[in-house]
Amino acid sequence: MFPRLTLFAVSIAFVTLANDALAERIAIIGTGNVAGALGPEFAALGHNIVYGSRDPSREDVKALLSQTGGNAAATSPSESVAGADIIVLAVPGGLAETITRDLGDLSGKIIIDPTNNYSREGVPHLVGDTSNGELIQRAAPAAYVVKAFNTLNWRQMVDPDSSGGPVSIPLAGDNAAAKSKVAELVTGMGLEPVDVGPIQNARHVEGMLVLWAHARANGAAFNYHLRKVPTE
Ligand SMILES: NC(=O)c1ccc[n+]([C@@H]2O[C@H](COP(=O)([O-])OP(=O)(O)OC[C@H]3O[C@@H](n4cnc5c(N)ncnc54)[C@H](OP(=O)(O)O)[C@@H]3O)[C@@H](O)[C@H]2O)c1
Repeated sequence: MFPRLTLFAVSIAFVTLANDALAERIAIIGTGNVAGALGPEFAALGHNIVYGSRDPSREDVKALLSQTGGNAAATSPSESVAGADIIVLAVPGGLAETITRDLGDLSGKIIIDPTNNYSREGVPHLVGDTSNGELIQRAAPAAYVVKAFNTLNWRQMVDPDSSGGPVSIPLAGDNAAAKSKVAELVTGMGLEPVDVGPIQNARHVEGMLVLWAHARANGAAFNYHLRKVPTE
């Protein structure tokens, strides 16, 4: 018979092994507001975070690594995606398609796209008759793009309670398994995933930022997000 302490050590080792098996390697491209919100949240869920930065040795990137904790690391964008299961494109919306192409072969990886295909030139508008979600899927055709986290401010990502109730995160994408993996991350953060259909529907959720910008120009400054309410 095993002494009680040995059994305890064996069960801790088993739990650690099980958690390691579930841990994903998540490459977050960018080190700004959204990267700084999602990185620490995903690390707290037990995932391994590697940031892809144009300058991984910058002081603010080092501060982000300390804030993220765990075994978080930073390297170049193209190195960060090597061996990653999931990639988050926390980059300026107008550059998302080019940055995706520059990352190389992303076949089989899940790409989380929180960006918006939005321009402030003249009146705020979507660029072209498409969305960043669709452009990114076209740039990485063998990856599984899931549009997520673009319909709320980064502050509500880390503190959903600050908005006074549950916060829903619409997920648009063509692959059900990828959406369900992203839904797990969303739920783990205390947010509510909502499947809103194929990646083509990214254009509708990206358009919300255009409405916000017009309202803001008309004097109404506010943050926004979706919230499910029960039907009657
Ligand atoms: N801010 C929000 O609350 C919010 C909420 C939802 C969605 N979004 C969307 O999420 C995306 C990221 O937003 P953010 O607020 O995190 O932006 P941000 O603070 O400006 O960060 C963007 C990051 O992209 C990287 N980057 C790579 N190439 C770049 C370039 N040529 N110029 C500038 N930065 C470059 C930078 O990281 P390195 O310098 O380390 O390379 C930078 O930290 C945007 O598309 C935005 O529309 C934002």
